[in-house]
Amino acid sequence: MKIIVIGGTGHIGTYLVPHLIEAGHEVINISRGQRQPYQPYAAWKDVQSIEIDREAADRAGTFGDQIRDLHPDVVIDHKCYTVESARLLVEALWDRVQHLIVCGTIWVHGHSTSVPTTEEQPRRPFGEYGINKAAVEAYLLDQARRRGFPATMLHPGHIVGPGWKIVNPAANFNPLVFEKLARAEELALPNLGMETVHHVHAEDVAQAFWKAMDNWNNAVGESFHVTSPAALMLRGYAEAVAAWFGKPANLCFMPWEQWRAAVSEEDAERTWDHISHSPNCSISKAQRLLHYQPRYTSQQAVFESLDWMISHEIIKTA
Ligand SMILES: NC(=O)c1ccc[n+]([C@@H]2O[C@H](COP(=O)([O-])OP(=O)(O)OC[C@H]3O[C@@H](n4cnc5c(N)ncnc54)[C@H](OP(=O)(O)O)[C@@H]3O)[C@@H](O)[C@H]2O)c1
Repeated sequence: MKIIVIGGTGHIGTYLVPHLIEAGHEVINISRGQRQPYQPYAAWKDVQSIEIDREAADRAGTFGDQIRDLHPDVVIDHKCYTVESARLLVEALWDRVQHLIVCGTIWVHGHSTSVPTTEEQPRRPFGEYGINKAAVEAYLLDQARRRGFPATMLHPGHIVGPGWKIVNPAANFNPLVFEKLARAEELALPNLGMETVHHVHAEDVAQAFWKAMDNWNNAVGESFHVTSPAALMLRGYAEAVAAWFGKPANLCFMPWEQWRAAVSEEDAERTWDHISHSPNCSISKAQRLLHYQPRYTSQQAVFESLDWMISHEIIKTA
């Protein structure tokens, strides 16, 4: 098939695009041409790349037509953040594609009532990003179920892989948190360290995208969580990382307001975003309907990233 991947050189596309080429598809990447994939697979030489700025083209009202005129069978969209952006694409592709698969986020849930959270639970998103992604999901599923448009939405957790900084045991991106654990220095966690984060390896996210394509009849009109099999509690995550460095975790705990005052504004903002969501998602729907089988547990995914961050001196353990 001819597959267009919008934003194909990012975390997910790095693994997805080579897989699609190896499976025999023709792949076109749409991006601004500002970055390269994180891993240099040989398959990239067979990928056509077209430079389009999605936001500018959406504003000009030309993006949907540009994609439609490439005559894709399938469109995979990693850069859709508003209903208007989704609507422009759906209307341009009406009756023209077999499948539109859009990347969402587990932030569509806001806070959950019971965990692990299933896709069927009511949406209570908060924050502009989660609210907009939940609106995109509602729009796409409505177009699929009421009007027969072949749309699917996949909701990844915190994407992990070698090449970028990942969510750490204090639920932010500061490498110092890993360094403290590596050196058995005291690390303060907010509250009781019982809030959760839910990672997923980028390769497993890519797997869900191609499996959604391969299981079209189960995927259309549905949304799916794409995470590791189990979320991590911050305290357990910190202990696992310390153990990985052969050290005990030297943890202390502070009420949120006290903890927030002790870290930078940026760290506090990131941590709050993660712990106020405290995601813990079920993947049983994706396992059942898409045959999604993540290769990585959260710990395995994190340790691969840690290796990369140490070898690139983002984390200094000595
Ligand atoms: N990161 C996470 O932990 C996480 C978690 C949950 C959900 N998500 C979702 O994942 C999706 C992002 O996927 P990703 O993490 O694989 O992407 P990413 O690593 O953020 O990469 C972005 C891709 O989009 C391209 N791009 C950026 N701005 C663009 C623009 N204006 N026009 C066209 N292309 C543009 C980039 O290439 P150029 O820069 O060269 O244009 C690159 O190919 C989003 O829908 C996000 O909501 C991410």
